[in-house]
Amino acid sequence: MAANAGTDPTRPPVADSVVNVREYVRRARQAGRKISIVPTMGALHAGHLSLIEAARRDNAFTIVTIYVNPTQFAPGEDLDAYPRTFDADRAACRDAGVDLIFAPTDAVMYPAGDQTRVHAGPLADTLCGRHRPGHFDGVCTVVAKLFGIVQPDVAVFGQKDAQQALIIRRMTRDLFLPIEIVVCPIVREPDGLALSSRNAYLSPPERKQALCLSRALNAGRTSLLAGEARDTIVARMHDVVAAELGENSAKEATDYLVAVDAETLEPATDASPAVLLAGAVRIGRTRLIDNLLVDRSASGV
Ligand code: PAJ
Repeated sequence: MAANAGTDPTRPPVADSVVNVREYVRRARQAGRKISIVPTMGALHAGHLSLIEAARRDNAFTIVTIYVNPTQFAPGEDLDAYPRTFDADRAACRDAGVDLIFAPTDAVMYPAGDQTRVHAGPLADTLCGRHRPGHFDGVCTVVAKLFGIVQPDVAVFGQKDAQQALIIRRMTRDLFLPIEIVVCPIVREPDGLALSSRNAYLSPPERKQALCLSRALNAGRTSLLAGEARDTIVARMHDVVAAELGENSAKEATDYLVAVDAETLEPATDASPAVLLAGAVRIGRTRLIDNLLVDRSASGV
């Protein structure tokens, strides 16, 4: 590597076509390296960087994809407003030791005549899927395309989007894709707010209010670990959000606050080995999601 690679604005290289990215992959494989991929929509933050760090393990040739995928946004969602910060993303990738950025256009990902879509199963019918119809079909479709283009050995995702990670694991298994799926823990601000590209939308007062989501999940965990019933756990989470937003606004702003089985996403029971406390709350016009995974076998409840 050149001595000044750390500040070289032409690094890492950016591929924008299928042929181009495959040529990089071919050469990396020839050099004996495994291939890892970190799919993102850009506006990179420390959460994304933690995935990159995991992807770089074993000296894998690490590809970050940056693509704001239109098929996972419903009409009226924030597709046009979604933050696009390519130069800063490239610098962050350079600092993080990324080998290649794949930043395709819509015409590359969805060329004229493209018609096939991947339909996620029942795991997509609940939580975010219930409030964002078609969202997970869009996610599965674009991730399947990225897998087909890059053909990585390893793909890294974040627990921040717990339902997405579960659905992608299932898709990979159901379609017999020979790719190892790695899921990394949620990276948070020091005060507990989960990092998200959408946090950029929050005004300073909203940023304060947004904390109620992680606080609600923590209250849910305390309740779960105290052995309280599911309805009580959920009520305690709602109480925290209501204390911040007011009872009526909290109801309107909350898409869901649930305690579900971490594998099936069905309502948690005493037999659930791990419980996912998950929430989606709108703060102003920004929809935030967060979750906490409580492993019962580890915690003894
Ligand atoms: P995006 O929201 O950019 O997220 C890319 C990856 O970063 C996802 O796997 C997400 O779970 C992870 N991530 C986001 N915030 C995180 C945090 N605070 N801690 C740890 N990981 C975090 O998710 C998508 O993009 C898209 O749906 C995509 C998979 C790229 C398909 O278009």
